[in-house]
Amino acid sequence: MLNLYNQKHRPQFHFSPEEKWMNDPNGMVFFNGEYHLFYQHHPFGTTWGPMHWGHAVSKDLIHWEHLPIALHPDEHGAIFSGSAVVDWNDTTGFFDGEAGLVAIYTSADHYPDSDRPRQRQSLAYSKDDGRTWMKYEGNPVLSEEKITDYRDPKVFWHNQSNKWVMILATGQSVTLYTSANLKEWEFASEFGRTAGSHDGVWECPDLFELPVDGEANDNRWVMLVSIGDNPDFPEGSRTQYFVGQFDGRNFKNENSDDTILWLDFGRDNYAGVSWSDLPKEDGRRIYLGWMSNWRYANQVPTEEWRSAMTLPRELSLARTESGVRLVQKMVSEINSIREHTEVIQDLTVKSDSPVTIDMLSPLMEVNVRLEKKDSTAFGIIFKNAVQEWTVIQYDAESEKIMLDRRQAGISFFSESFPAMQETMLKMEEGKIHLQIFIDTSSIEAVANGGKAVCTSLVFPNQPYDKIVLFSNNGETHVSSLKLTSLNS
Ligand code: FRU
Repeated sequence: MLNLYNQKHRPQFHFSPEEKWMNDPNGMVFFNGEYHLFYQHHPFGTTWGPMHWGHAVSKDLIHWEHLPIALHPDEHGAIFSGSAVVDWNDTTGFFDGEAGLVAIYTSADHYPDSDRPRQRQSLAYSKDDGRTWMKYEGNPVLSEEKITDYRDPKVFWHNQSNKWVMILATGQSVTLYTSANLKEWEFASEFGRTAGSHDGVWECPDLFELPVDGEANDNRWVMLVSIGDNPDFPEGSRTQYFVGQFDGRNFKNENSDDTILWLDFGRDNYAGVSWSDLPKEDGRRIYLGWMSNWRYANQVPTEEWRSAMTLPRELSLARTESGVRLVQKMVSEINSIREHTEVIQDLTVKSDSPVTIDMLSPLMEVNVRLEKKDSTAFGIIFKNAVQEWTVIQYDAESEKIMLDRRQAGISFFSESFPAMQETMLKMEEGKIHLQIFIDTSSIEAVANGGKAVCTSLVFPNQPYDKIVLFSNNGETHVSSLKLTSLNS
């Protein structure tokens, strides 16, 4: 193991930068057997600063190789968030008829002689699997004087219309553009002024198609929109989504304007988007988010580096009582870090006698099936020897799943950190299933097969080493508890 992974709070099986600051994942694309992950990076400090694109590659989405910085600021400014695509048919003419990688990102500077931020879209391309990049001499390729927040282009090829589509964050909406060659863009439509949450500036959109319940002839389009921090709301920055139809130009939301759908009920999943160009045979839509929150990202108690990414997740759609909704599942590649498993079956937990079990390792996956008997609430606690704990609890009366990190460990750096995070969730056949991933400074809880997911940073002073199962006001049956140690 590299020395760097011995640093305090350093994630062991989540991606984090070798050193210094990281925010949004960028340019995620699969090409020639490699998953590329670029990211917003400030290489000279552990707080946000002039943005570069850091770079890493992986063959399995779990083990990452750090590569040199891919994009440095230039005469058009810093390199803000954006996407990358494989230009299979050389529509750009960059690749002499071959296929190659094109990054589409925001160039961020200021209007001449002014403090007003200027955000314009630019291109860079690589002919050597992303190892070196050339900026397009025609940059920027898209600008709009009237809008200040004009950033984070996510581009994809739309088969039916035979065009590239760009979805761009434009203040309190997203704007869609189309292009034949990635260089010239035409306005198509604007969406969102009256729909969803407007608690903060809209950022980092994505748009993709998915089958409902796996039925190939029943598809929907999903739009992800991250919304920035606003001091008026305790949650800080977070991610919402919309479900509807897209015809190559217009997105039609199938829910009412005032329906707000959150991707995650934890505070630490932001600016996430999906991978481009996964092989057809793979068929998955894989998502990754930045595991932090603008409310305190610059203050979290790590020294040599700041921030990590969530585990990669497969997104799908399921029909529910309230409509078609997103479901998240951790990618199956996680299997490669599973080590040793112990299974305990048929435990009864009574209200006056919680059950305590030693954790096999500080890095763990816990799968637990909890069945309500006559209890009103039940759950699982992770704790250490210095009186720090995180609680995941289901409250049967309010039908809420909650993750409480108020006593989880270090939290002095932000008033918003010691929080209770919760969402509505129904039991299924009287049961709640939890799949929980515990890394050095994060907990991700996937409830009922991904219908509710919580991504939460925690900074315990010592690793959690005990699990406590508890039941309030009656009995809870633990039909199975599976503990799996993970390696890095
Ligand atoms: C989202 C964001 C983007 C922007 C980038 C700058 O976290 O604010 O909108 O491009 O970060 O680093």
